[in-house]
Amino acid sequence: METGSPRDEVLLRDGTPLEVRPIRPADGDALVALHARLSADSIYRRYFGARPHLAPADVERFTRVDGRARFALVAMRGTDLVAVARYEGRPGERSAELAVVIDDALQHQGLGRLMLERLVDVGREAGLHTIVADVLTGNAAMLGLLRTLQLPQRRESDGETVTVSIDLTAADPPAARLERARAHLARAGSENPPG
Ligand SMILES: CC(C)(COP(=O)(O)OP(=O)(O)OC[C@H]1O[C@@H](n2cnc3c(N)ncnc32)[C@H](O)[C@@H]1OP(=O)(O)O)[C@@H](O)C(=O)NCCC(=O)NCCS
Repeated sequence: METGSPRDEVLLRDGTPLEVRPIRPADGDALVALHARLSADSIYRRYFGARPHLAPADVERFTRVDGRARFALVAMRGTDLVAVARYEGRPGERSAELAVVIDDALQHQGLGRLMLERLVDVGREAGLHTIVADVLTGNAAMLGLLRTLQLPQRRESDGETVTVSIDLTAADPPAARLERARAHLARAGSENPPG
C-alpha cells in the first residue's frame, strides 16, 4: 500500500539506484534469497555463528514488525532485496538493538551508512533514546561505520564483542531527514497492521 509519500531512492557509489523502504510481510522470499547469497563471513558477522538457512519462523519474525518498537528498512534493487537494517525493542522501552547486513556484492559502496543513518532517524522519531549494537571485536567495517554516525556512543568490550550504545537524544537531524523518517514510520504502520 502506498501512503502518498515520495519514494526514498538512493544511489550507490557506482550509480546503481535503490529504493529504501520498510520491510513488509511479503518480503519473505526476497529475504531468503538475500540470505542464500550472503558469504559465510557476512552471516557470521551478522548472527555470530553459522546460519546456512533462515528457518521459516525467522523469516516470519524478520518480515513482520510492528513498525515502532520493532522496525526494519530494506534496500531494493528492482525486486532483489539487497540490504536490511533493523532494530528490535519492546513496546514502551526507550532502547532497542540494531543489526544490519548488506549483500556482499554491494558492500563498501556507502549503503551501510545510508541504511544506518535512516534507521537511527526512524528510531529517534519512534521515541527511542538509545540504540545498541553488539559487534564482533574484529568487525572493523561495522565499528568504523558506527563511528561515522557522529553521535555520542559508549563502547564496552568483553574481548569477543564490543557493545556500542548510541545516544539518540544528543542531536536533532535536519528537517529533511526527520520528514523522511516520519514517512518511513507512516508507511510501516500502514503496511504492518497490528495483529
Ligand atoms: C558492516 C557492513 C554493514 C558495512 O556496510 P557497507 O555498505 O560495506 O559500509 P559503507 O560502504 O556504508 O561504509 C561506511 C563507512 O564505514 C567505514 N568502514 C567501512 N568498511 C570499513 C572497514 N573495513 N574498516 C574500517 N572502516 C570501514 C568507513 O568509514 C566507511 O566510509 P568510507 O567508505 O567513506 O570510508 C557490511 O560490511 C556488512 O553487511 N557486513 C556483514 C554483516 C555485519 O557485519 N553486520 C554488523 C553486525 S550488527
